Amino acid sequence: MKRILSGIQPTGNLHLGNYLGALKRFVQLQDEADCYFCVVDLHALTVPRDPADLRDKTMEVATLYLAAGLDPEKVTMFIQSHVRAHTEASWMLECVARIGELNRMTQFKEKGKGSDSVSVGLYTYPVLMASDILLYQADAVPVGEDQKQHLELSRDLAQRFNREYGEVLTVPQPLIGEVGARIMGLDNPEKKMSKSAGSPANFIALLDDPDTIVKKIKRAVTDSENVIRYAPEEKPGISNLLVIYSLLSGESIPSLEQRYQGTGYGQFKRDLAEVVVDHLVPIQKRYRELRQSGDVERVLKAGAEQASRVAEETLTKMRDAMGLVPRMV
Ligand code: AMP
Ligand code: TRP
Repeated sequence: MKRILSGIQPTGNLHLGNYLGALKRFVQLQDEADCYFCVVDLHALTVPRDPADLRDKTMEVATLYLAAGLDPEKVTMFIQSHVRAHTEASWMLECVARIGELNRMTQFKEKGKGSDSVSVGLYTYPVLMASDILLYQADAVPVGEDQKQHLELSRDLAQRFNREYGEVLTVPQPLIGEVGARIMGLDNPEKKMSKSAGSPANFIALLDDPDTIVKKIKRAVTDSENVIRYAPEEKPGISNLLVIYSLLSGESIPSLEQRYQGTGYGQFKRDLAEVVVDHLVPIQKRYRELRQSGDVERVLKAGAEQASRVAEETLTKMRDAMGLVPRMV
């Protein structure tokens, strides 16, 4: 059985882009693969965070994993910082990574904006991500399009480690969906939907209430043609809405185009809002029940134990390969 690992940062609000690019696919994969899904709280420390908010968001994301349908009987779900091996492996891989390759990471360039005062952690962030993946010997990593370059780095680091120190690490494949890997912002369909967007009009949060969802979709930027046609370059706004509609309803884009022939954007948006609300309301209901229940804490405890066993095994191999003397017992 294939091993899968992925993670989501507990920053901002989980939105439809995270759901369609990542979480919804995690739920589909749980029946086919041996899955490890973590909440990457250490990655969230790369930018200044309010500690109470970080704690709350970490539990929020973990709860959303379950509310969206991850089944703890099938997957291992854990908080990244609960497995100490991640930071230790990260140091070892930092000594394998090259400054030049980190300098080329576009996410760092965008977030760091050339400033001297961003954290060192933001710079080495992709190496920590590589540890997350390589410690579990993951064969494949489901992510959105924006993580492609980071995954390339994980592959390069695994290959270099194996070349220099012997075959220890599995070289992971990216699993990037054909559609939905890049959901665009509702207020600006030229840019990806993002947690760190300036305005909440950019995204639909998984926990937005129905009225807010309806309003945000109604205001989503489209063009003036009033024709429902998929043409991402020419008509990015309506094309993005078609992708969201299709992925949530299971109806293909051509079929939607056909069905909405001669209908205007107003009706299309009203129907889409209904599809989104119908999809998210049950998740929100489960979310509220789970947050009260204590179940999430139990799942995370068992998850950390299972994840630690796997991660420690790889870490020991990495330590041996690199020449670190085992601790005396
Ligand atoms: P992050 O919020 O950066 O931790 O991202 C969590 C997951 O969601 C990663 O797999 C991202 O690639 C994915 N993701 C983030 N934004 C989008 C988006 N706008 N469209 C599709 N996938 C996304
Ligand atoms: N960097 C990823 C993001 O911003 C989150 C992440 C951290 C991740 N570790 C990972 C994703 C391991 C997949 C696998 O979305």
